[in-house]
Amino acid sequence: MVRESMSIEGGAANRDDGRARGGRLRLGVNIDHVATLRNARAGSRPEPLRAARLAAAAGADGITAHLREDRRHIGDEDIERLRREIDLPLNLEMAATDEMLAIALRHRPHAVCLVPEKRTEVTTEGGLDVIGGRAHLAPFVAALGQAGIRVSLFIEPDPAQLDAAHRLGAPVVELHTGSYCDAPFGPERDHRLERLRRAAAHAQALGLECHAGHGLCFETVTPVAAIPTIRELNIGHFLIGEAIFIGLEAAIRQMLALMAAARTPTVVPTPISAPLSEVEFRS
Ligand code: PXP
Repeated sequence: MVRESMSIEGGAANRDDGRARGGRLRLGVNIDHVATLRNARAGSRPEPLRAARLAAAAGADGITAHLREDRRHIGDEDIERLRREIDLPLNLEMAATDEMLAIALRHRPHAVCLVPEKRTEVTTEGGLDVIGGRAHLAPFVAALGQAGIRVSLFIEPDPAQLDAAHRLGAPVVELHTGSYCDAPFGPERDHRLERLRRAAAHAQALGLECHAGHGLCFETVTPVAAIPTIRELNIGHFLIGEAIFIGLEAAIRQMLALMAAARTPTVVPTPISAPLSEVEFRS
């Protein structure tokens, strides 16, 4: 039922027509906050499954859901139904605990993204400390990998954390874009974007597949989507919020269009006298 690999197909609005810079960029839609709304009334609506179906119809490449230890939004039954009923790869975000590992091994999602988790936090604050947590994380990365689940580590755009993720044998890293998104427009945001660019290049040099996410919106997505070595973005809160105003499908389609535009080279006209090699490609 569930497609085996997110890297094969999908993303109608974002298809690689052979011109996209750095290859096509996938979108995983995080549906956690549909469950937040549902749980506010302890009922059954709005249904995360319905959101996942709409995401598929809008061209998303995958569904992302975070099963938190306190089950504040997504619950166990949501994971079971997402795995059973949705025809898109599932990226399960979870803490590195024995309980979560058992759940992942039972449902065998396409991917697991290991994230740090504190009960008191409002959302995932900061990335994993892969350097300090190496001994704890190693058996989780190994067990998930052996089960054929693609493991990613959610980390800050820090070269030392990337090196540690590489040493641990994780095939994928997801760069935390929260601090870039939170920065005011201007030099501070530019600086944080540059950190993301360097980290994405470093990931590629290490042979790690690079994803990114957290806090992205229509305003902040374009510069991140333009980083050619990033292969996937995971976006949730903004899309679910925007759905209130323009609908979920429209919000996802607009996000996919922005991602595709950021990835598509534009030929900038050059003076007739300039040699062909000087034709510039800009996003
Ligand atoms: N990626 C990871 C690893 C996350 O933990 C989250 C939040 O659950 C997201 C992406 C999506 O973040 P947001 O909901 O802010 O778009």
